[in-house]
Amino acid sequence: MLKHATTYAGLDIGTFSLKVVLLAREPKDPVPTLIGFDLREIGGGVIGEVVKASFAKLGSTPKAINISLSGPDVICRFLEFPKMNDKELESAVNFEVERQLPLKLNEMIFDYEIIEAKGETDKTGILLAAAKKGIVEERVTSLKEAGISPSLIDVDSFALTNIFNAASSLSPKEPAERIVSLINIGETSTLLNILKGNELLFTREIGLAGKGITEEISRKLGVDLSAALKMKHQPPTEGGTEVAGIMRSVLGDLIEEVKLSFEYCENQYGRGVDEVYISGGTSKANLVAESFSEWLGIPINRWDPFAGMKMAPGVSKEELKAISAELAVAAGLALRTE
Ligand SMILES: Nc1ncnc2c1ncn2[C@@H]1O[C@H](COP(=O)(O)OP(=O)(O)OP(=O)(O)O)[C@@H](O)[C@H]1O
Ligand SMILES: [Mg+2]
Repeated sequence: MLKHATTYAGLDIGTFSLKVVLLAREPKDPVPTLIGFDLREIGGGVIGEVVKASFAKLGSTPKAINISLSGPDVICRFLEFPKMNDKELESAVNFEVERQLPLKLNEMIFDYEIIEAKGETDKTGILLAAAKKGIVEERVTSLKEAGISPSLIDVDSFALTNIFNAASSLSPKEPAERIVSLINIGETSTLLNILKGNELLFTREIGLAGKGITEEISRKLGVDLSAALKMKHQPPTEGGTEVAGIMRSVLGDLIEEVKLSFEYCENQYGRGVDEVYISGGTSKANLVAESFSEWLGIPINRWDPFAGMKMAPGVSKEELKAISAELAVAAGLALRTE
């Protein structure tokens, strides 16, 4: 088994935790094998050192290390152009990027892929991701200082879409044309994608997530942030309902934002979101799925990004189950083979 496999690492470096997923690919086999994973809090640690410690624990040197960018430093846009050849399209994209984004071409790094235009066959659709050059360089330098060379830089929203589509195709159970929303709730940001079938229709980052809940518990109950974090992760038997009430009120603000995006999409596409798939550290709290379901009135699922994949013998299914929803972005990154 895995004699001729190549190992790819996906590194999701968040503001709270580092998530690492190692996938092995055998030539001509579309099904990857999960050979290792790790999740650790970053705290005040130096990112390169935290990553190094994680690789040391996993005991494997991947062929490629894929990282991602997210948060307010990344801009994702859908653009449409009249049909033209690749060269013309490239210069048209350059022109539009400079016109529409708040940065000069030489101050940013961007990439795009061609997608289907929305309903208009004489147009070419573009899905663009751009980030400030300085941010990308900072991240790469901090890893290189620890001897880690990233092979590829993706963005969280595309990685999340890729792993969701891969998991759906490896264990198909739903009709392809449904509209689903993938919501990844982390520490400082919530990523919201809306997909029709396997095509990304809409993506945005909402600057409210786990940190907002911790801060509100701290403020309302007059405890410091580390005590508030503990109460959030394990609500105390006494005072638990108070903590839950605070969580609900912050989640209410988040869900209002989610609703606005769902309404926007419904207006654009004439169809609402059928169901939601939640991931990210904050999705571990049962209250999250409960509140979303209550306020949105549609099915809310916690999903398994590794559904249908093979598992290497040393992988603990129990450990994986406990954190699989947190590993979604890292798994999507490890899927990228070029
Ligand atoms: N059991 C739990 N109950 C409630 N919240 C939890 C639980 N476990 C983790 N969290 C919260 O999840 C958040 C971290 O999630 P995650 O690791 O996905 O974030 P991140 O990727 O580091 O952050 P970001 O993507 O926003 O930069 C923290 O706010 C943490 O407190
Ligand atoms: Mg994250």
